[in-house]
Amino acid sequence: MLLLIKNGTVINPGDKTQQKADVLVEDGIIKKIAEKQSVKADKVIDATGCFVMPGFIDMHVHLRDPGQEEKETVETGARAAAHGGFTTIVAMPNTKPAVDNADVVNYVHHKAEDVAIVNVLQSGAVTVGQRGTELADIEGMVEAGIPAISEDGKSVMNAQLYREAMTLAVKYDIPVLAHCEDINLVNGGVVNADEAMEKMNFPGIANSVEDIIIARDIMLSKETGAALHLCHCSTKSSVKMVKLAKQEGVRVTAEVCPHHFTLTSSDIKEDDANYKMNPPLRTKEDVEALKEGLKEDIMDVISTDHAPHTAIEKGVGIKHAPFGIVGLETAAALTMTELVDKGYLTMMQMAEKMSYNPAKILGLDKGVVEEGKVADLVVFDAKKEYKIDPENFWSKSKNTPFAGKKVKGEVQATIVAGQVVYENK
Ligand code: DOR
Ligand code: ZN
Ligand code: ZN
Repeated sequence: MLLLIKNGTVINPGDKTQQKADVLVEDGIIKKIAEKQSVKADKVIDATGCFVMPGFIDMHVHLRDPGQEEKETVETGARAAAHGGFTTIVAMPNTKPAVDNADVVNYVHHKAEDVAIVNVLQSGAVTVGQRGTELADIEGMVEAGIPAISEDGKSVMNAQLYREAMTLAVKYDIPVLAHCEDINLVNGGVVNADEAMEKMNFPGIANSVEDIIIARDIMLSKETGAALHLCHCSTKSSVKMVKLAKQEGVRVTAEVCPHHFTLTSSDIKEDDANYKMNPPLRTKEDVEALKEGLKEDIMDVISTDHAPHTAIEKGVGIKHAPFGIVGLETAAALTMTELVDKGYLTMMQMAEKMSYNPAKILGLDKGVVEEGKVADLVVFDAKKEYKIDPENFWSKSKNTPFAGKKVKGEVQATIVAGQVVYENK
């Protein structure tokens, strides 16, 4: 099977090169990258005016499978990923039951093999049932193939237990993906703690809720040597702490989600739970610090925290609805519109933060466009303008604050191991 992607601009973060070239793929492997290849291929994609990039890798999605399949499944989540240009996604363990043993890991991986059109990797919970009291079977889950451990959805509040988990993460050479939230400090908050939100009578979540656990986890990483990856950073202090930790040689990386660099709490004009996520939308100052942090490569990764919920659950208003928004099908366009187009990131940095860096952190042989490597690719039209319409999402859920937003940058094709899993026709 021969696939030829013609006339595109190939971006390879592996050697930081960008060149006009055709990409020839044979049996799932990139065979040749060169100009004007005239080969009789089984399938040709015309990438004129587009970038050919390494397929995006999302280190942070919620697939709700097992247990809440009305929101999303392995199959629909993978379809949403393909539609968004993602070729690999990492699923968080806060399912029902939680992914805290090898059986549930195997369930997701086997299901993914059967029905998922992109690569799906399941991460393992840190504690049994994510209850924070005893360690999960991390060794068993490592044997089952988890690429990371994470308690996402919450923090392990017992620092001693978390330190033990980090020691195991060092032993098994996997990263710890940390959701940083001091649950006692949340104190019923539902949005950012600021004046605008007080006026709307919403209880607030202070920056300290995140900052205190980020500081703690950096200390624990320094002590244990564990590779710590900080999920969905939302505060200006988080950027400062990551910068300092890196200067001191701590093994820390950090991610930012598109909603946190696109919106502030002041964008919440009415009681609409599509603006409710955890951590919450912060202030202009925080957003600016996150964007500068991405620009300066202090912040390594753009991930979505794709968190599907049903319209009924989200329809009850900000105070009572669950936290979270979908993100797989808006991430690339928001990154293009808010960061690349506005001069914060180069296209190369976009490819690094959405593919190369996640691959490195997870230890995957992906994230590059090079001969001999697996052909996980995305064809991306950086100039195409359109309005976001949740009705076009392939996800089961439509909970997004970006409905109707004008954006630039559209995925034209997504290729997983040489198979075209999405094409914009
Ligand atoms: O907004 C969020 N939604 N933040 C989280 O930490 C969890 C996630 C979810 O599972 O819905
Ligand atoms: Zn989280
Ligand atoms: Zn999450």
